[in-house]
Amino acid sequence: MNLKDQISTTKAQLLKTFEAATTEHALEEARIQFLGRNGQIAALMESLKTLSLEEKKSFGPQLNELKKVAETTYNERKAAIAKAQEQQAFAKFQHFDVTASTYQPLKSTLHPYTHIVEHVENVFMSMGYEIVDGPEAETDYYNFEALNIPADHPARDMYDTFWLDVPNMLMRTHTSPVEVHAMETKELPFAVVAPGRVYRHEATDASHDIMFLQTEGLFIGKNISMAHLFATAKAALQGIFEKKDINIRMRPGFFPFVEPGVEIDMTCPFCKHGCSVCKKTTWIEVFPAGLCHPNVLKCSGIDPEIYSGFAFGFGLTRLAMIKYGINDLRLFHSGKLQFLDQF
Ligand code: DAH
Repeated sequence: MNLKDQISTTKAQLLKTFEAATTEHALEEARIQFLGRNGQIAALMESLKTLSLEEKKSFGPQLNELKKVAETTYNERKAAIAKAQEQQAFAKFQHFDVTASTYQPLKSTLHPYTHIVEHVENVFMSMGYEIVDGPEAETDYYNFEALNIPADHPARDMYDTFWLDVPNMLMRTHTSPVEVHAMETKELPFAVVAPGRVYRHEATDASHDIMFLQTEGLFIGKNISMAHLFATAKAALQGIFEKKDINIRMRPGFFPFVEPGVEIDMTCPFCKHGCSVCKKTTWIEVFPAGLCHPNVLKCSGIDPEIYSGFAFGFGLTRLAMIKYGINDLRLFHSGKLQFLDQF
């Protein structure tokens, strides 16, 4: 094939090859094939050397023209490919579906116990009470002895106790031991509430678990009577259930650390004539209380001839069940997010 034909075939070939290149990679291969240092056009240029001056004059400009055509075609293709890529990216962006469902972020909520504790604390703080804390692992002395429950007292049977491997140590069965710590350390008169966990070694069911929440309350001063207890219990329950028309009544109850001891009932906050919560009675048993037994005061160095006081022991778990309408207390301790998320 003479050079003239070679030039025209190469031209036709390169136009076709560049046209067919639709990716950056294919275009680069085409560039190397025709415009590369060892490419087809360079080879034709090389063959020019062997020609006569006359022929050089004629084919030189034709080869330069071919190179120019190759370069322009290459540049046009390059721009076209870049544009197509840009359009593709834009099309993808345009089809971004804002309504597509994605994973919901996990939202955290406070545990119902945290809500009830904070709420009860606020109610008592508004009445001038101080919030105190005590250890969950206690000694026999604080949990029983100092509360007028000596070793042989039958009342110990009320408390199914988790004893620890350490002699005389146990998991507190109620928050009452915090009373003893308060009486030992506080200046008189004082008023405290002590919310916290308590432990009982018993079979679990919808209303019993091995751990639950209580709060102890204790007010010690001069001339403290049942009237103070009555008014405090009523005001506290009105605050806790956020209702003014709650009334209370007291029935006799026995606890070794109080004399007299009472069980406090409140009028049902959910109905007027009986419902499932109050079991159609319009009354709900809420918590036990009483006036501090002289033995208890004496044991912690307080003279019962001068001082008196009242104490109460709320089952906070029970209050939370009533307030939030929960019928199985094990749900509180289950870690079930579906349940806990509602608070
Ligand atoms: N500590 C008692 C219990 O867990 C509850 C209690 C009853 C506490 C009467 C008191 C009280 O302060 O006066 O069974």
